[in-house]
Amino acid sequence: MKKIKIFLVAISFIITPFSIGAQSVEDIIKGRKAMFSENYQNAKRISILLKSGRIDEAKPLMEKISKNYIKLLDYFPENTKEGFKTEALPSIWENKKEFNDLMKKASDDMIKLAEAIDTAEDLRAIQKKLMWSNCSACHSKFRAPH
Ligand code: HEC
Repeated sequence: MKKIKIFLVAISFIITPFSIGAQSVEDIIKGRKAMFSENYQNAKRISILLKSGRIDEAKPLMEKISKNYIKLLDYFPENTKEGFKTEALPSIWENKKEFNDLMKKASDDMIKLAEAIDTAEDLRAIQKKLMWSNCSACHSKFRAPH
């Protein structure tokens, strides 16, 4: 029993530095900004690819955005409300469930977009519905206007 305990403690020391828990406030705020920026670049790229009918090239980018949103759920701990030029509003922590639900919806919608895109008649309309509308829905309440 004691050996197992020592083993578990040792393992947790090895694993912890790789989890979000050990990151500094600066790393977390800069990390989430970088992920949102990456999503933005990929969303623009998706629009361009779809305009020229390159659906198969756009799909992996949709999956990438979806995964980033799930990762982002862990990038808003209580101690990252200010500093490092964050544009995150206090309303995030006052409405954490609503914020997280919007993030999960945005993630799910990217998977739905990847599924629907093959048969969609209006490519612009479906991108608006399942991709762009989620950006503004969240920003209007949870990101500082600029
Ligand atoms: C569930 C909420 C949510 C969704 C969905 C969302 N964002 Fe954001 N976004 C934020 C928040 C909060 C910030 C501010 C982060 C910070 O400054 O700490 C932000 C910041 C950004 C930034 C600035 C990053 C930087 O370098 O400062 C860009 C660009 C951005 N979002 C683009 C998008 C685009 C494009 C979409 C849709 C494809 C999107 N976001 C969807 C909440 C969201």
